[in-house]
Parts: sequence; structure tokens; C-alpha cells
Amino acid sequence: MLTKFVIEGGHALSGAVTISGAKNAALPILAATILTKETITLHNVPVLEDISTMFSLLESLGKKITRKDNTVIIEEPNSLGYEAPYEIVNRMRASIAVMGPLVARLGKAIISMPGGCNLGPRPIDLHIKGIEALSATCCTTHGNLDVSAPEQGLIGTIMNLSSKNGSSVLATENILMAATLSKGTTIINGAAKEPEVVDLAKLLTKMGAKISGAGTESITIEGVSTLHGAEHAVVADRIETGTFIIAAAITGGEITINNCVPEHLEEAIRLFREAGISIDIIDDKTLFVKAGSSKKAVDFTTLPHPLFPTDLQSQFVAYLSLAEGKSIITETIYPDRFMHAAELNRMGANITVDNGIAKIIGIKELSSTSVMSSDLRGGAALVLAALATKGTSEVLRIYHIDRGYDKFEEKLKKLGAHITRTN
Ligand code: UD1
Repeated sequence: MLTKFVIEGGHALSGAVTISGAKNAALPILAATILTKETITLHNVPVLEDISTMFSLLESLGKKITRKDNTVIIEEPNSLGYEAPYEIVNRMRASIAVMGPLVARLGKAIISMPGGCNLGPRPIDLHIKGIEALSATCCTTHGNLDVSAPEQGLIGTIMNLSSKNGSSVLATENILMAATLSKGTTIINGAAKEPEVVDLAKLLTKMGAKISGAGTESITIEGVSTLHGAEHAVVADRIETGTFIIAAAITGGEITINNCVPEHLEEAIRLFREAGISIDIIDDKTLFVKAGSSKKAVDFTTLPHPLFPTDLQSQFVAYLSLAEGKSIITETIYPDRFMHAAELNRMGANITVDNGIAKIIGIKELSSTSVMSSDLRGGAALVLAALATKGTSEVLRIYHIDRGYDKFEEKLKKLGAHITRTN
């Protein structure tokens, strides 16, 4: 039997929640530990499935991982391998993040090719373009991507890593890691500007890398011959923060959100306010969120940072399904990322999706029923919708949610939600 959430909705959330470290920062940061033989100590590492998958991947390569709550120590007792096996890569696309570090450190990586996912096709052409620009050769055989550095190691260069779809977060991170140990200087133009890229650059700098411009669209890396051990605390999760803002607002509640970085959510906060949510920025780590007297429709478009993140689209759609008026949502990052719309419609929402654009006609109340998550953030959106309905709902296939939220139902329960995990 697959685990599900049973949610009795209609209870306004109140109290305080503490945000965990960002999954999307912790994943490349864990991959970056491959770049050194020395020990790396990480704090504020969230406890969730994707992180466990990255641990398995690092262990399969030869790293030793010791975890105590949110602190993780990564050591290298023996020599490292360079093959990322299919059984692990097919569980998580972010596994591709080990490619850059492996090629930079060992001169070779064999990574099982990640397939498609529920968000639609997710190519890795930019990862390949970037590593080839650093003089590696790539070929695909038997479903594997086989990457080799030239004998003298990777060679720095100037490259443009953007495509017609814009920049790529993981490709930027992958090539940033590879460039730290390349010969000479690398300039990545068209780099992703997400806070998770900046956090990775912070760790790499602590390890001895020479990086400037992280957080802008041009990152310069002066290669060094070795990197050393370091200690780092992972940045707060902006997507978890946004999810809790909506959880408070959709239930008519008011909560304090601790240990977050409001600055990373500027555009989201602007749109949430436009949608009727009251958000006070108490200080650079704390928000106070209060539901407004009414939920208002807004139009928004998902775009790379610093604009509205695709990873908050589903949750905001759940909120807007209850707003007064019509909202138009344009999903430019993953046009197929609307699986939650059909499930929200099963709860009575009025959402039509056409070609990456969703039209939502807000309704007064959603009705409780059983719904099924089909991806991580879409699953979270269904939980939020269920919290806002009066009756009892079930959210099935919550393994998607477990991939990316740290103690989701525990945190919601503490805020007064009636949510139980059951088989
Ligand atoms: C990361 C996040 C994910 C988020 C996404 C967009 C991690 C672990 N995951 O994923 O949660 O939804 O950013 O903010 O950080 N693309 C290409 N070629 C490539 C790579 C990507 O065309 O080689 C396209 C994608 O199809 C997509 C866009 O670029 O349209 C952005 O994807 P990308 O930024 O790469 O997403 P990820 O880094 O995989």
C-alpha cells in the first residue's frame, strides 16, 4: 500500500514554522564534495528523500556519510569511483550534478542518462555543451553518458550556457563545479542566477575555489589545482517558505515564518500581496503572514530568478483557484507542469490548461475528495487545497512530496493542521 495523507480541512493555521535548508542548494553542494578528498561538514541539510538519494549516490562512488540530524559529514576513506548507476540516477534527475565534479577530479564520469519526468522532457544538452567547452569529450552508449577530460585535465574557456529556454540551474552548477579544477580561467555567460547557485559558490570558495559573479549572469572561475575540506550551512529553502506562506493564506490563518530569506522571494511576495495576502518582513530571516479579507485573482508568469519560480506555481494555483475573479498563469519553464490542475478540478476548481497557459476562474469553496500527487510541488499544492476545504480529503502518492519537503506534515500539524500519514 502506498502512503497517503488524510486531511481534515477548514482549520486556520497559526503559530510559527522554521524553514529547513534548501533541497536544491543541498543537492549540488553534496555533489561538490566529490571535488576534494578532504572532509566536508554541512549544516542545515534537510531530511528528505532526494537528499537520501544523493547520499546513496555518493556512497556508491566511495564517500562515507555520517548524518546527525541536520549536520552531515562527508569523508573519503578509499578511492572514488566514477560511475553513477541507473538505479540511483533514475530516482532523481539532479544526479547529473555529479558529472562535473567527477570529470574535474578523476578525469572521467559515466552517468546513466536521466529520462523524462512528470514535468515533461528535461534535456541535458546544456550540461554536455558546458563540459565539452571545457575540452571534455562526451559520448552516449548503452543509455550512459560517458565523459572524459583530456589527459592534462579540463581546460578553462569562455562559454555561453544559455539556450532558447534560458539558463539552466543545474547545468550552471555542474559547469561551475567542473571549472574550479580546470586549468586557467572559465567565464560562464548566460549563467543561472538562482540563490542556490550562489550558495554552492560560497561552499566552493570555502574549499579554496576562486569564483566571482555568482548570482549574476556571468560567473568567472579561476581554476586551482586542488580543493580542500570546509564547513558550510545550507541556505534556507525559498520554495518551502513560499509553500508555507500559501498554507497560512489559503486556510485564512496567520503564521510567523522563521529562518527564511525574504530577499530570495521578492517577486513572489509582490504577487502574493497582490493576491490579497498580508506579508510583513520582520527582519532578514523572519516573515509574518496573514490571510487577507479576500483572495484576489492575479496573472503571473514563471521565469528564472529573480522572477516568479516555477517551483511555486502549483501551490499558488491552488490558492488562486479560490480567488475572486480570473487568473492567467503562464508556465514558461515547464509548459507541461499542470498535472495538479486536473486534480484541483476534481475538488471543484475551474481551471483550463492550454499550451502552457492555465486559466483559473476562482470559486468560493473547494470540496473534499481523494486526489493524487503526480509530482513534488503539485503534490504540495493538493495538500494546501485539502487544508482549505471543509471536509476530509485524501492526498495519494505522497512519495512525491517526501522527495522535497522536510517533515512537511509535522510542521503543518504544529501550525494546527489536521493531517495524518497513513497506509
Ligand atoms: C532546477 C531545480 C528545479 C526547478 C528548475 C527550474 C534543482 C535540483 N532543481 O532544475 O526544482 O524547477 O531548476 O527553476 O535545482 N534545459 C535545457 N537544457 C538543459 C537543461 C535545462 O533546455 O540541458 C531547460 C529545461 O527544459 C527547462 C529550463 O531549461 O525548460 C530550466 O531547467 P533547469 O534550470 O535546468 O532545471 P534544473 O536545473 O534541472
